[in-house]
Amino acid sequence: MISQTWWYVARASGIVAWGLGVASVLWGTLLSTRILGTRPRGPWLLDLHRFLGGATVLFVGLHVGALVADSYEQFGLADVLLPFASGYQSIGVALGIVAMWLLLAVELSSLVMKRLPRHVWHTIHLLSYAVAFLSSVHLLVAGTDAGNPVLRVAAFVWMPAVVGLLVYRQLAPPLAPKRPTVAPTPAA
Ligand code: HEM
Ligand code: HEM
Repeated sequence: MISQTWWYVARASGIVAWGLGVASVLWGTLLSTRILGTRPRGPWLLDLHRFLGGATVLFVGLHVGALVADSYEQFGLADVLLPFASGYQSIGVALGIVAMWLLLAVELSSLVMKRLPRHVWHTIHLLSYAVAFLSSVHLLVAGTDAGNPVLRVAAFVWMPAVVGLLVYRQLAPPLAPKRPTVAPTPAA
């Protein structure tokens, strides 16, 4: 009974982690389009993005921890940390493990983003698109609930939404230049 409980916890937390990760990517992409406003804008917009990212990490931790606690499939530490260490759904699980490491890189670099050059932080941050993609394929390949029609549709539906936002960002007219703070001196 206990082993079944951990298996259910692993499945449920995997789905929540995936949903939060995709929501974080969608919200981050939306912020980057400036559709929600230019700087300075409500700090809660970025706080919500940070919250979604942090919660994704926590639920991935629960997902992985529950798999180790579950005594039926017998995942060891190496099985959940190293791609292809586990014999269970090895390709599907490896995709989840790679997604987890990329997610950690995105999250940890963001926690120290003020100490990193902006372009370094941003290059690492772009890995979040790979996190969303790999974890979606992971869901479809390794997931017990991969046959669920709602999950199958959900695993794909975010992709055109993100692509649409990125296309909008490329095509949107450039922002109006900031007004000068000092009045120009009249021409002599
Ligand atoms: C402490 C955690 C995080 C912080 C502080 C943070 C911060 C930011 C900031 C400042 C932006 C730029 C918004 C703009 O252009 O105005 C951004 C964009 C973005 N974030 Fe995050 N983020 C965090 C975690 C995450 C996580 C965990 C994910 C997804 C796994 C994620 C996905 C994205 C995406 C997809 C973008 C748009 C990137 C682009 O195309 O330029 N972020 N984030
Ligand atoms: C970003 C990281 C990850 C996300 C978002 C994620 C998400 C998910 C989701 C949504 C499922 C399907 C759940 C279901 O069908 O009910 C799943 C299944 C699974 N995941 Fe992950 N996962 C991640 C990382 C990992 C890692 C690091 C492992 C390490 C072993 C792992 C192992 C598994 C296994 C064995 C399954 C199949 C069991 C099940 O159906 O729950 N995942 N994952």
